[in-house]
Amino acid sequence: MTMSAEALAADYLATGTVAGTPSGHFIDGREQDSLSGEKMDIFDPGLGRPFAAVAAGDRADAELAVASSVKAFPAWRRLAPAERGRILNRMAALIRENADQLAMLETLDVGKTLAESRGNAHSAARTFEYYAGVCDKLQGDSLPVGFGQIGLTLLEPVGVVAQIIPWNFPMTTFARGIAPALAAGCCVVAKPAETTPHTAILLARLLSDAGLPPGVCNVVLGEGASVGATLSAHPDVAHVTFTGSTKTGVRVMQAAAEHFASVTMELGGKSPVIALADCDIEAAAQGAAGAIFENAGQICSAGSRLVVDRAIHRKLVDRVVEIAGEITVGHGLRGNKMGAINSRRQLDTILGFTDRARRDGRAVLCGGKQLQDADGGEGWFVGPTVIDDLSDDDPCIQEEIFGPVLSVQVVDGPEEALRAANATRYGLMAGIYTANISSALAIARDLESGSVTINDYWGGGVEVPFGGVGHSGFGREKGLVAVQAYCRVKSVVAQVPTTLSQETRNN
Ligand code: NAI
Ligand code: MG
Repeated sequence: MTMSAEALAADYLATGTVAGTPSGHFIDGREQDSLSGEKMDIFDPGLGRPFAAVAAGDRADAELAVASSVKAFPAWRRLAPAERGRILNRMAALIRENADQLAMLETLDVGKTLAESRGNAHSAARTFEYYAGVCDKLQGDSLPVGFGQIGLTLLEPVGVVAQIIPWNFPMTTFARGIAPALAAGCCVVAKPAETTPHTAILLARLLSDAGLPPGVCNVVLGEGASVGATLSAHPDVAHVTFTGSTKTGVRVMQAAAEHFASVTMELGGKSPVIALADCDIEAAAQGAAGAIFENAGQICSAGSRLVVDRAIHRKLVDRVVEIAGEITVGHGLRGNKMGAINSRRQLDTILGFTDRARRDGRAVLCGGKQLQDADGGEGWFVGPTVIDDLSDDDPCIQEEIFGPVLSVQVVDGPEEALRAANATRYGLMAGIYTANISSALAIARDLESGSVTINDYWGGGVEVPFGGVGHSGFGREKGLVAVQAYCRVKSVVAQVPTTLSQETRNN
C-alpha cells in the first residue's frame, strides 16, 4: 500500500468509495464469493450509509471452510514449530506495513477514529509477534512415576478451532484468538461480525502472504445465526473462542456441548473504576474518562461504572464531565476524538438506557442524546454521557449499555467501594485509583473480576491474561495462558527396559 491513511481518507470522503476493498470469504488460500452468490451491504457508521458489499455466507460456506481447515490440519501440525514462528513474525511485519489500509477499513466498518484503528493495527501486529515467540517454547513435563518407568506429557493442538468475532475490535480480537491458535498448531475458521468484515479478509490475505498454507486460516463472512451457529455446532470444530454478548455466548456453549467442543467465552462486562478518597483526582478523572469514552464505550472491558468515595465525588465527577465536554464527536476519518456507534440498532440500545434514566429522574450530567456530525453527516453518534449517583439496582449499573455512558455509584470508604464494585453479575475488569498501594492490593484480591489495574485503567498489553468471571465468561486470552485453550495434554508412560544389572542400578 502506497497511499497514507490520510490520503485514503480524503479520497473516501470525496468519493464515498474505497478502491480495492476486499469482498469475499477467504477459504483455501483465496478470496471467493458465497456459494449462493448472495451479498450484504456494509455501512459506514459515520455516514449511516453503505460504502461496500461483501459475500453473505450461510451454512454451506461455513461447512466448506471447516472442510478446508480439516484438510490442512495434518501438515500444519507437523510443521516445525520454529517455522510456524517465522510465519507469525512475517505476519506481524506485514500488518505494520499495511497498517494504514487496515486502519482505514477498520474505521469505515466500525465507526471508530482513525487514531484508534491505527492503534488497533499495531496492537494486532504486536500480538502476532508475541505468539511467534511462543511457537517453539511450548513444552510438556516429565512425570514422577518412579524409577521403572518414564512419564511425560505431550502438548498437542486440539484441531480445527472456530473464532467468532464481534464488531467492536475486529482486528485485535482476530489477532488475540488466531495467533495463539496457530502457534499451538491448530487450524482456524474465523467469522467476523456481520457489520465489520473487511479487516478479517485482509488479515487472512496477509497471513497467506506471510507463508501460511491454504486452509490453515479461513475466514467466512455472514450472519451469526447461520455461519456462527454452523461453526459452533460443527462436529469437526474442537474449540470455539467466542467474544460477544452473554446471551449469544449461552447459545454457542449449548451448540458446542452437543459435540464436546471446548469453549472460551469472552462476554460482556460492567467494569468498575474505583476512586478512593486519597487518589490523584486528575489521574482518576483522565483514567475514568478514557475507560468509557475510548471506542465510544463499545468495549467489553470498558470502565462503565465509576465507584467514587463521597469525599471526592463532586470534584472528580465534575472533572470527568469537563473532560467529556472537550471530546469532539464525529466521523472517524475527520480527526474527531470520538467516533460513531457501530449500528443503528446499537445506537437505539444506548438511547433506550439514557431515555429511561431521564424518565426515571436520574441525574444525566451530560450527553445521553443522539448527536449530529458537526459536518452534517447522518451517522450514528452519541455524546459522552455521565449519569450521577445511581443505586446498585439501577439498570445503568446492572446492565451492559455498550456505549459512552458512565454510571456513577457514590460510596463511603474502601469497604463499601469493594461491595459496590462487586454488586453486578459481571466480572471482567476493574480499575483502582488510590495513593495507597496496600489498599489497592487488598481490594484487588477481593474483587470478583478477571483483571485489575491500579492507577492506569488500560495498563498492560498482550503479555497480560484477559478474561472474565461470572457472566463475563471464562477462559483466558492473551499471555502465555491463552495457548492452553488450543492445546490438549497427552500423557505417555513407558515401562523402561532393564538393561543394567540390579547392582549397577543401585550404585
Ligand atoms: P452478538 O453476541 O450477537 O455478536 C457477536 C458475534 O457473534 C458476531 O460475530 C455474531 O455474528 C455472532 N453470532 C450471533 N448470533 C450467533 C449464534 N447464534 N451463533 C454463533 N454466533 C453468533 O452481539 P450483538 O448482537 O452484535 O450485540 C449485542 C450486545 O452484545 C451489545 O449491545 C453488547 O452489549 C454486547 N457485545 C459485547 C461484546 C464484547 O466485546 N464482549 C462485543 C459485541 C457485543
Ligand atoms: Mg446478536
